[in-house]
Amino acid sequence: MKYKIALLPGDGVGEEVIQQAKKCLEAVEEVFHHEFIFQIGVIGAKAINTYETALPKDTLRICKNSDAILVGTIGNHKFNNNPVAEVRPEHGLIQLRKELGLYANIRPLRIFPSLVDKSPLKADIIKGTDMLIFRELSSGIYYQNKEDATKAQSASDVCKYTEEEISRIAHLAFKAAKNRNNRVTLIDKANVLNSSKLWRKVVRDIAQSYPDVALEYQFVDHAAMKMIAAPNRYDVVLTENMFGDILADESSMISGAVNTLPSASVGEKQALFQPVHGPYTELKDKDLVNPVATILATAMLLEHFRLFEEAMAVREAVDKSIAKGIVTKDLDANSQYGTNHVGDFIANHILGHDDRINMNNENIDLGKSTII
Ligand code: IPM
Ligand code: MG
Repeated sequence: MKYKIALLPGDGVGEEVIQQAKKCLEAVEEVFHHEFIFQIGVIGAKAINTYETALPKDTLRICKNSDAILVGTIGNHKFNNNPVAEVRPEHGLIQLRKELGLYANIRPLRIFPSLVDKSPLKADIIKGTDMLIFRELSSGIYYQNKEDATKAQSASDVCKYTEEEISRIAHLAFKAAKNRNNRVTLIDKANVLNSSKLWRKVVRDIAQSYPDVALEYQFVDHAAMKMIAAPNRYDVVLTENMFGDILADESSMISGAVNTLPSASVGEKQALFQPVHGPYTELKDKDLVNPVATILATAMLLEHFRLFEEAMAVREAVDKSIAKGIVTKDLDANSQYGTNHVGDFIANHILGHDDRINMNNENIDLGKSTII
């Protein structure tokens, strides 16, 4: 099959991680006889520098004209200390979500058995954790009725939701739960916020159509504690935009391996995939950044194309690299492997060409370099 994939490397280490992900997609292309047509677009700080906007028209056009979008990382700390900057790198992403109607952000949290000791939590607390967060992405406080802080003495952001906005993501969450462990936890602040009361009403009604799925409610402050105390009790988590932003980052710490976590942002027509981690500007061009989160984002992208066998090949290759200790220094301080080598290992594994890079299993098991 033929697919058009937009690649938006963005800022910082984005270019490097996208290159590794592209290598893996090319390996999938070869093994499974597909044709991937890549189109590159600029976004974020890099776009601001040249076009004075974080989302140039050309980039939006490329995205609209593609079957899926793969984003690297966006942001630059030089914008962080200016709260009234008119353009900011991350506005590119916020605008893209709106323009493309990407209303659901989906973040899986999975613990790699060999990385259990990376977690700041005890092994028996995180044991069995397998969570899927559905965060509403195109409405709520991020988008509704904003009063500009640059022009007045006061400022406001309004959190408003419609039934339709809640129901479309709720259905996605319940459908996902049906294929997993049949549990949805709706996280809100319904003891205080009217928008949360609407979430409860709409989600409770939708739950009637999914009799096999148990629905529970949690207030967001309580959930923030529970997620750390007992992360393995969650299956599918459903929440609004800002609570989701915060809880998704909290959950990413549970694994202790944030650089292995991907995310998907989906709408009716388009879908965008990216790593959860930030631009790590200080690591740029040093061959140090971990490419795994972006490579796993491509596995989610392939699943979106319903290429399940292909996605599995990518996941198996990543599992193998982690199990064999072919990882970057963030996962093993003694590792001698860089971004490129990890990407090559994973791509070669997909190609079934493990021998070509002179892998010696005995050395790999000992954690020694296998490059001859
Ligand atoms: C995320 C990020 C973005 C958000 C930023 C970069 C605007 O934190 O995707 O979670 O807040 O949604
Ligand atoms: Mg965030």
